[in-house]
Amino acid sequence: MKDPLAVQRRLDAVDYLADDGMAMALFLALKLGKPLLLEGEPGVGKTAAAKALARALDTMLIRLQCYEGLTAGEALYEWNYQRQLLAIRLAEAQHAKLTDADLFTAEFLQERPILRAVRHQGPVPPVLLIDEIDRADDEFEALLFEFLGEAGITIPELGTFAAATPPVVVLTSNRSRDLHDALRRRCLYHWIDFPEPGRAAEIVRRAVPGAAEPLIRTATEFIGGVRDMELDKAPGMAETIDWVAALSVLGATDLAAGDVVRTIGTIAKTPDDRAAVAAALGMYQESQS
Ligand SMILES: Nc1ncnc2c1ncn2[C@@H]1O[C@H](COP(=O)(O)OP(=O)(O)O)[C@@H](O)[C@H]1O
Ligand SMILES: [Mg+2]
Repeated sequence: MKDPLAVQRRLDAVDYLADDGMAMALFLALKLGKPLLLEGEPGVGKTAAAKALARALDTMLIRLQCYEGLTAGEALYEWNYQRQLLAIRLAEAQHAKLTDADLFTAEFLQERPILRAVRHQGPVPPVLLIDEIDRADDEFEALLFEFLGEAGITIPELGTFAAATPPVVVLTSNRSRDLHDALRRRCLYHWIDFPEPGRAAEIVRRAVPGAAEPLIRTATEFIGGVRDMELDKAPGMAETIDWVAALSVLGATDLAAGDVVRTIGTIAKTPDDRAAVAAALGMYQESQS
């Protein structure tokens, strides 16, 4: 992909709509071979960006979903203790003795997503998605520094593995906590805003092909307004898509219908938000009639 516009076009072809800033961030990440940290509120298309990038590059997506308590053994690699034990038993039965050098070899190594990305063979490097890094404990970030900086992993018993072609690395964060400066320094950075109404409508249009045009337009406009309210959980694009899909299934062609309010479980996810959104919807319908 020769320029940001080419990135934008290829993503568009797999139904991911990147604005100019996003296209530039992805283009530079690809060209400089650096990890890209994407931050933004939930539902602005961070995870979808990495998935779309893998499709656009026609390559494999390796995904690491982060969570509290995530360890090196689940993210990088693990020794297969059961197989090691079996090998020891087998050796004992044959009156042989195994040393550490016999037991800590590639044969007993279990690849987890990051090592898998490093050791990936083939002409096109994979896209590695390290999703929701802010969910992992902050000590976990330190385990990534070597990989993010050098596209390699050192395994004390075996040495350093370096990627033949560095994987395309996308990290995402919902900003539920701040990340280490040391992690930020090793990455390019892009903040994703909630899409402006025109782009939001186009995203919904692609995701719910059967939806009526006035429904798409009024629903995305309404969500734009709802996002300015102080809700517990502001609806993101996923919720917007669900809502339009639900209304479309029910045969609605715009937001005027009386039973529209019964579908707001798709966009309001707490009792307070439900009440607030229902009231806003009532006001919206009144203003339209
Ligand atoms: N720019 C975009 N182009 C296409 N679809 C998008 C875009 N942004 C968001 N979406 C859609 O919105 C949904 C939620 O996005 P997601 O990537 O899960 O959000 P995040 O990871 O930021 O919480 C996805 O299913 C995706 O289809
Ligand atoms: Mg996500």
